[in-house]
Amino acid sequence: MEKPRITILYGSQTGNAQDVAERLGREAKQMLLSPAVMPMDAYDVAQLPSERLLLCVASTTGQGDPPDNMKRFWRFMLRKGLSPDSLSAVQFSVFGLGDSNYPKYNVTAKKLFRRLESLGARPLVPLGLGNDQHPAGYEAALDPWALSLWPAARQAAGPLPPGVPPPTIDAASLVQLGEPKYKVTLLPPHCPAPSAAGTAEGAPPPPPPPPPPAQPQGHHLRQPHPDVALPSEQSAQSVHVSSASSPAQTPTQPSTASHEAPSAPLPPAAAEWAEAVAMAASFRRVAAAASGCPPQGPPSSQSSTHAAQDSLIVNTGANQGHTIAYGPWCPYFARMLRNQRITASFHFQDTRHIELDLGDSGLTYEPGDVLAVLPRTPPAAVDALLKRLSLDGSQHVCVEPAEHNAATAAAAAAGQPVVAFGTVRALVQGALDIAGASPRRYFFQVLQNFACTELERERLAYFATAEGRDDLYRYNQKEGRTVLEVLADFKTATPTLEWFLEACPLLAPRLFSISSSLRQHPRQAHLTVAVVNYTTPYKRQKRGLCSSYLAASKPLLHDSSRTTTTTDAGGGEHSELAHQQPARTSSQQHALASLQALQQDGTPSNPEGSGLGPDDVPSAGIHQQQCVNGVVGSSHQGSDASEGGVERREFEQQQEALLGLGQGALASHGCFSGTLQQAGGAAQLSGSSSADFDGSHMYQTTTGPGSQGRVGLKAAGDSVVVAGSAPTKEGMHASKVAQPGNDVEHVAVWVERGALRMPPPHVPLILIGPGTGVAPFRAMLEERQAQAQATSTSGTAGCTQGAPNNSASPAPCTLFFGCRSRAADFYYGQQWHELQDQGVLLPPPDGLVVAFSRDQPSKVYVTHKLREHAACVWSLISKNGASVFVSGSAQQMPANVVSALEDVAQEQGGMGKEEASKFVRQLELTGRFCVEAWS
Ligand SMILES: Cc1cc2nc3c(=O)[nH]c(=O)nc-3n(C[C@H](O)[C@H](O)[C@H](O)COP(=O)(O)OP(=O)(O)OC[C@H]3O[C@@H](n4cnc5c(N)ncnc54)[C@H](O)[C@@H]3O)c2cc1C
Ligand SMILES: Cc1cc2nc3c(=O)[nH]c(=O)nc-3n(C[C@H](O)[C@H](O)[C@H](O)COP(=O)(O)O)c2cc1C
Repeated sequence: MEKPRITILYGSQTGNAQDVAERLGREAKQMLLSPAVMPMDAYDVAQLPSERLLLCVASTTGQGDPPDNMKRFWRFMLRKGLSPDSLSAVQFSVFGLGDSNYPKYNVTAKKLFRRLESLGARPLVPLGLGNDQHPAGYEAALDPWALSLWPAARQAAGPLPPGVPPPTIDAASLVQLGEPKYKVTLLPPHCPAPSAAGTAEGAPPPPPPPPPPAQPQGHHLRQPHPDVALPSEQSAQSVHVSSASSPAQTPTQPSTASHEAPSAPLPPAAAEWAEAVAMAASFRRVAAAASGCPPQGPPSSQSSTHAAQDSLIVNTGANQGHTIAYGPWCPYFARMLRNQRITASFHFQDTRHIELDLGDSGLTYEPGDVLAVLPRTPPAAVDALLKRLSLDGSQHVCVEPAEHNAATAAAAAAGQPVVAFGTVRALVQGALDIAGASPRRYFFQVLQNFACTELERERLAYFATAEGRDDLYRYNQKEGRTVLEVLADFKTATPTLEWFLEACPLLAPRLFSISSSLRQHPRQAHLTVAVVNYTTPYKRQKRGLCSSYLAASKPLLHDSSRTTTTTDAGGGEHSELAHQQPARTSSQQHALASLQALQQDGTPSNPEGSGLGPDDVPSAGIHQQQCVNGVVGSSHQGSDASEGGVERREFEQQQEALLGLGQGALASHGCFSGTLQQAGGAAQLSGSSSADFDGSHMYQTTTGPGSQGRVGLKAAGDSVVVAGSAPTKEGMHASKVAQPGNDVEHVAVWVERGALRMPPPHVPLILIGPGTGVAPFRAMLEERQAQAQATSTSGTAGCTQGAPNNSASPAPCTLFFGCRSRAADFYYGQQWHELQDQGVLLPPPDGLVVAFSRDQPSKVYVTHKLREHAACVWSLISKNGASVFVSGSAQQMPANVVSALEDVAQEQGGMGKEEASKFVRQLELTGRFCVEAWS
């Protein structure tokens, strides 16, 4: 029987609306309809008038904005020329996802519903609105909405063939499984890749094919972007098959210059990761095609939530005459240069300053852009999953859509059949989120079909139904339960690989604002990453997948102290990095080298310090030493597995080897202080330890009262503090040491457009960025610094204070930063002061305004400070045409900033309440008030 078609379009920024659309797709099948599910921007809008049944699922993002992957569609819908009856044949409904904490609650869905109606489309059921603030999440509204939708949709689809009973969706049908979406073929060990012709429906399992055509080196991992002409042999599939099927070939980074020799191969650990990412990219094409999404746009835009054309920045380069593009699921593997904790070791929040090497990728970005980072699931978690599902990670697997549909036919016709091929391990590692995201309700629905005990079956079935929704929310989402954890709780339920692939959340990139200016740090991107770490209602400790991965990753450079020379401008830093001492192999050599460097030169190599974090000022730790006589005795508070990219244990071993201490002598230590005893080539310490030992601090001597951390070890008899904070900015010794080994992390990244766009240099900036919200503002201020440097070298003095000007001299800025306390989390404190000294920030008291919320009895936040500095804020906005940018937590902060600005307009501008609110709205409409917020 020919099933009536239903088109289900979604606009989704972080994946929720996509999940809803896919759920509706599954339910549509149960209703004997034929669904096609795709992002709105992948849909051919010319087809809209000929649709009969249309469902739209749209979230709202930013400050009331449509998600990136529906922006093009939405622009089309807003065209004035569309006739009011153009969609009169269409019956539709819309479900929105939003959060009532935002002032523009669910506006995207509301506007879309109204617009479809105004073009003549007829609603099947009223608009449904899911709200994150509901104790049971958006599903609380989705369940009843869907229940009312299906009978209406079925009726609108026309009569059923005679004898076919009307389908229903009830509790029983919710726990039944239909046909799986994927066909999975596990290949015998060592079976080579299938041919690029792939296996369409009905074809026999993939036979051992001839090896794929050789790829030009340096391209193995690239997926093409459709806007960029690629040589035909670089089709997504052949590229993928090549990488996955040729383990002997080591994947390489592409290089951009056509005359260049192929880039150096990636180290084995990175190559394995790159192979997993390539597998994920192929799998996403398969997933999209299996949902009926035609093969248009970049492979990832069909399923990636971040892949919209509008936000997509395709960086192209050339390699051996071929153009290459980096974008969603075609990442650049950026070597991690630095990974430095910038919160005090006693502070609960671990925040990292990360520096990535963009090498010769040609990747570029503007201040305000964000970096999409693919989290790398820890190998141990992948192993656990493989064991739990009784899978052999080294076995090759072929995944393709189970059903032939218009999308697979179109792909085959275009010579790009959709099939993913690689090892099971690569598939799990690259494509699936098993250790980060909480599974959706559908996961429980699938799992219950595989449970082997009545108890597990009953519990899973309950979770899969609307009645169990609140309990599921409490057990699952509120607890941040991961797929691995759920599988551990339901021990007898072991789904097959095809069902697991269908139900497991896909690995999604995480976004981080870029915190550097390319002009100040050529070929680098810096990030300021707060490691997600929270306690659940049941007191389980949870950590974010991507931020933990970044924090635990090994960088190329290890600072021998906390401070670094990150403020170098004009490329000096890059070349400096390139001339690092070659890495030593043994930890003892490494540690000795560090010590020798200090012994040879007691003068700080970076007298300025970098001002990255609060340990640039006297920290509680160094003043609270609880020294005990002898070698050990400690109460180290911070329990991070890694500091500055060096595993704590590894560092301890270096220390122990170097200092001639017994194994474990420094284990679970605090600060060590004592006396240097030079013995042969080695150094020995005796003394006492205290509570601020930190793996990223090495060998600073006490040469007199108040001078801790000032000079390196010099001679036997010097007293030593193995710990450290620099009390003054002159006091830090920061020698950079290249890490040994080739296990330096290569982070899979691409650049996306952020919400904040920097205005021309003559526009003053008011930057409001509490916590890691300050990240994009570091990029903007560094950019202004570079602009000022450029104008000063061309004859014009630094920043122009006060009045707007049309010269090339950048206008001054003011930064409102908020954190807990000066000692704990004043990120980049010293750098802000330097920028102020240079005139990039206005002079005190208005240029750098910091709200240390806990440094006084009553809490103080950036919004209080905005009101305190109302006169300056108002003058900059009303007289100097300043732009106001806000970045950081989405919870209350943006709305509070709006209220504070309204108060300022009332107090300083003499406006009434309504006028002030219109004024701020006008700033927003003219692009002079922009927010980048995340939850
Ligand atoms: C445009 C943009 C720019 C961003 N820039 C930055 C930046 O510069 N620096 C930065 O650190 N972050 C930034 N973020 C936020 C960052 O992307 C997220 O924090 C991301 O989820 C971290 O990834 P993860 O894998 O470590 O955490 P995940 O594994 O994704 O875990 C995050 C999830 O954990 C849960 N969670 C977190 N905290 C709590 C809590 N207290 N209680 C209950 N549940 C909780 C939430 O469900 C949350 O979605 C940005 C986000 C966006 C959208
Ligand atoms: C950065 C950010 C901005 C948001 N802005 C809004 C908003 O303006 N209005 C709203 O109703 N919801 C807003 N939300 C809530 C989302 O719409 C909600 O979390 C939704 O479930 C996300 O769906 P998605 O994953 O499909 O994008 C925002 C969420 C985030 C993370």
